[in-house]
Amino acid sequence: MAATAVEWLDRPVPAVRLLDQTRLPGEEAYVTATDVETLVDAITRLVVRGAPALGAVGALGVALALAQGSRENWGEARRLREIGQLREARPTAVNLAWGVDRMLPLIPGGFEAVLAEARRVLIEDETANRTLSALGVDWLLERSPRRPLRVLTHCNTGSLATTGWGTALGIVRELHARGLLDVVHVDETRPLLQGSRLTAWELRADGIDHVVQVDSAAPGAIMRGLVDVAVIGADRIAANGDTANKVGSVGLALACADAGVPFVVAAPWSTVDLATPDGAAIVIEERAAEEVLSLHGVPAAPPGSRVFNPAFDITPARLIDAVVTERGVVEPKVRADMKAVHHAAVHHNH
Ligand code: MRU
Repeated sequence: MAATAVEWLDRPVPAVRLLDQTRLPGEEAYVTATDVETLVDAITRLVVRGAPALGAVGALGVALALAQGSRENWGEARRLREIGQLREARPTAVNLAWGVDRMLPLIPGGFEAVLAEARRVLIEDETANRTLSALGVDWLLERSPRRPLRVLTHCNTGSLATTGWGTALGIVRELHARGLLDVVHVDETRPLLQGSRLTAWELRADGIDHVVQVDSAAPGAIMRGLVDVAVIGADRIAANGDTANKVGSVGLALACADAGVPFVVAAPWSTVDLATPDGAAIVIEERAAEEVLSLHGVPAAPPGSRVFNPAFDITPARLIDAVVTERGVVEPKVRADMKAVHHAAVHHNH
């Protein structure tokens, strides 16, 4: 199965079509954005989410802005404002700004030039995911003696979060394809349930055996020896290897460190932000209190309770055994320097 989270439509008017992830697993509905405002709204509501998918939306969104701008006769100031709003729609995943920024030099070449480059972003992402998945599995098989392997994952990092295949879930898929996967422990991922709603949906479609567990079951499962590896994605990887990912990730890393279970971060190079020195410099998005105060409209706390709702947390490099990108594997516990990979593997992409 390959769920298509993000797609470009040429007709009847240029549009970005998004699988509405707020409605899964109950319903496969789509949001078709023909203007930047609708696209920004979809990003903030998590109709589309996951760092690499946001990178694709950022890139296609610039093409959309050019199409809308020529329909509506925007001046340059308006175009810059709309593209700026798109770039800032969510702050933590660097891919969104990366996708926008990659398009900017092409704007003088016009809509077709921007769209062609945006399409390349989508293709490159899936290719990167497949490459990093194979590298990640090779790394894992050298370290973990058990066959088949039991994997724990958090949030959603599959086709829905990318332009295809997936990152951490790509590693799961690659293990499954090689006949080396036992079972996947899927954290439900409070408060918005990307694990139970989306990851379980993808795994079920692929016929991959899994159990859904509440987030608070994860550290205990790791420390009881029920899993052989924890694999997560990333929203931003700083130059020193510190990693922002869905809230709850750092607790998994702590449990893994204590239990001697490998903790692996999987992401395309577009998630690595060498301009951010460390985790302390990463902006962590805080989301609406309502996400925590109610469950499907049913109150989960007394009305008016104050809420702390960070969407992400930072896992320090010292707790990460491997950062797997399509350019290679960094072992931050040994050497936490993403720049080393950057220089060692310049033959990719550039
Ligand atoms: O708030 P979300 O659903 O966009 O958060 C997504 C995550 O934290 C993912 O783990 C990350 O973006 C990597 S997706 C391949």
